[in-house]
Amino acid sequence: MTTAPTRPGSIGTPVARIEGPLKVTGAARYAVEYPMENVAYAWVVQSPVARGVLTAIDTPDDDDVLATLWHGNAPKLRRSDDPELQVLQSSRISYRGQVVALVVAETLEAARRGAQSVRLSITEEEHDAELTADHPGLYTPEKLNTGDPADTSQGDVEAALAAAAASVDVTYSTTALHPNPMEPHATTAFWVGDDLVLYDSNQGPSAIAKQVARVFGLDVGQVHVVTEHVGGGFGSKGSTRPNTILAAMAAQVVDIPVRLALPRQALFSMVGHRTPTIQRVRLGATADGVLTAIAHDVVEQTSTLYEYAEQPAVVTRHMYAAPNRRTSHRLTRLDMPTPRWMRAPGEAPGMLALECAIDELAATLEIDPIELRVRNEPDVEPEDGTPFSSRQYLECLRLGAERFGWGGRDPRPRQRREGNWWIGTGVAGAAYPSMVLPSTASATMDATGAVTVDVAAVDIGTGARTILHQVAADALGVALERVTVRIGDSALPKASIAGGSSGAASWGWAVDGACRALREQLSRLTGPVPAEGLTATFDATPQVKARENAGKHAFGAHFAEVRVDADTGEVRVSRLFGAYAVGRVLNPRTARSQFIGAMTMGMGMALHEESVLDPSTGDWVNHDLAEYHVPVHADVEWIDAAWIDEDDPAVNPLGVKGIGEIGIVGSPAAIVNAIHHATGVRVRDLPVRLDKLL
Ligand code: MOS
Repeated sequence: MTTAPTRPGSIGTPVARIEGPLKVTGAARYAVEYPMENVAYAWVVQSPVARGVLTAIDTPDDDDVLATLWHGNAPKLRRSDDPELQVLQSSRISYRGQVVALVVAETLEAARRGAQSVRLSITEEEHDAELTADHPGLYTPEKLNTGDPADTSQGDVEAALAAAAASVDVTYSTTALHPNPMEPHATTAFWVGDDLVLYDSNQGPSAIAKQVARVFGLDVGQVHVVTEHVGGGFGSKGSTRPNTILAAMAAQVVDIPVRLALPRQALFSMVGHRTPTIQRVRLGATADGVLTAIAHDVVEQTSTLYEYAEQPAVVTRHMYAAPNRRTSHRLTRLDMPTPRWMRAPGEAPGMLALECAIDELAATLEIDPIELRVRNEPDVEPEDGTPFSSRQYLECLRLGAERFGWGGRDPRPRQRREGNWWIGTGVAGAAYPSMVLPSTASATMDATGAVTVDVAAVDIGTGARTILHQVAADALGVALERVTVRIGDSALPKASIAGGSSGAASWGWAVDGACRALREQLSRLTGPVPAEGLTATFDATPQVKARENAGKHAFGAHFAEVRVDADTGEVRVSRLFGAYAVGRVLNPRTARSQFIGAMTMGMGMALHEESVLDPSTGDWVNHDLAEYHVPVHADVEWIDAAWIDEDDPAVNPLGVKGIGEIGIVGSPAAIVNAIHHATGVRVRDLPVRLDKLL
């Protein structure tokens, strides 16, 4: 919405993070940092084989070790919908890195020493850890994670491709990738009678309380999850991970608080990864660049334990018009950890394949890649004709082209050389669904006029806490300083997870509703606010459930300039720019931070991040930050983001579409396309390592 902010701290103003001073002074407490007397430490013992049966263990002989848990002695858990949470319940080993024992000791050092001295007796079995395009286990999942169908088809793609004046038939592959939040998955657990308290690093305390309660056979009210500050999640903390269950189990056994922070190397097998993909994209077009056919067929993996069906081709259902189209997803079950959410799961790898293929078609047709996109802009959802609530994709391309300086570009590859560098530029589109999830909030004004807003939201580093303060202050029409928003605690009114870029929309809807209801109560008040205060609660669930999801997306366009060393193939991203239409932007400072953070993560996907599988062990050989390179400041030379003010009240009352993920959706393709423009080399298996360019 274009309405100017009305006062300092209002929606639309660049309020600095409310908790920033706590974080930079070290006063903010993370999950294993709460001061506590008489606390024990746990360390995991992980399976060295990908498939087999654990028959016996030798436990450490160490006075400092309080307990060594394994399936032979661990407390029994209830079944839940996630078999990876059935930790230490069975002798069956389903993936390398699976926790097979837990050592609990008086000190961290003793726990680690104990874990290293545990001897495992395992009957190893043949395993299969490698995804291939023609894997014999490929099957069609009943539904994708999103609830969408695995396959869609319209018209006759084969006939249209055969008749097309120009076509591309390309296969892009992406490796497994690992989310690496700075704060690892970590939990402090203790029991108070039959009730469980968890200081836990996660993306949704309400959801975690519910999942943990199910596993321990408790009522949800018996599990209290405190998640005040979180050092990143990227999707991997969106559901309960084994560390939380293990810490709670250990605390039950030793009867004192237990801290478990996963070591970095354990994250690679215990908290999920982005599935590798093999994606075939076929495009057919007329000579003047009007698409007649689009096909996007995806091969990806899941585990033997749990079906995780990611949705890379779903984004292709929404991007471009074409009468003949198909999308498909095929899965295979490997003896590997289950893939999980990682920032823009589905959309990030899917858009890479689609937007690189579009670039290849533009080159074939000798049409400017932006112009090609303009010629295929749909009026309505391409597959089912649903109107878009708003779609400013072309406006993003135009804004980006202007700000980045696209005009006058020589479309021919390998033309621009400066010293030893080949220079090139690339563009790619982006879309991400505008989601909302049910949440509840309450707002209380005390007799002094101070307002406390409660919602079990969580700030994983996004600025969510800050924007909720802004939303509350605006809805009440009071100064920001008069509002305190409490989040990060399952005892607060139930809220959805920080996932799917839905936080601002979902929690914001509840907070806005509660504050408006309180304001309404205040307007009817004849005297002062009573001593006990005034409270209003708002549950957005009915309205959220009644909302029509189709046709609601955020859009963007990414632009990259790269230079490639002519001798070594080293790629540097000289400039990276994102232009977005994401509804209303609540806080330009934290929004920009989300955009450029995700774009940087996209740079990692294009160039640096690669989990290298050793099929003989079923493990990634580079499972630490020394060898799995997450982009750092030195990798980013110039980066910026801009956005179009967009008024879309249909998405939710605040008009926000969500900004957490769209920055990683198109940025990898823009970089890969720029590398082709610089060098003339099309790399279709990511990441683009220098050896692939020589
Ligand atoms: Mo995000 S991967 O939806 O937590």
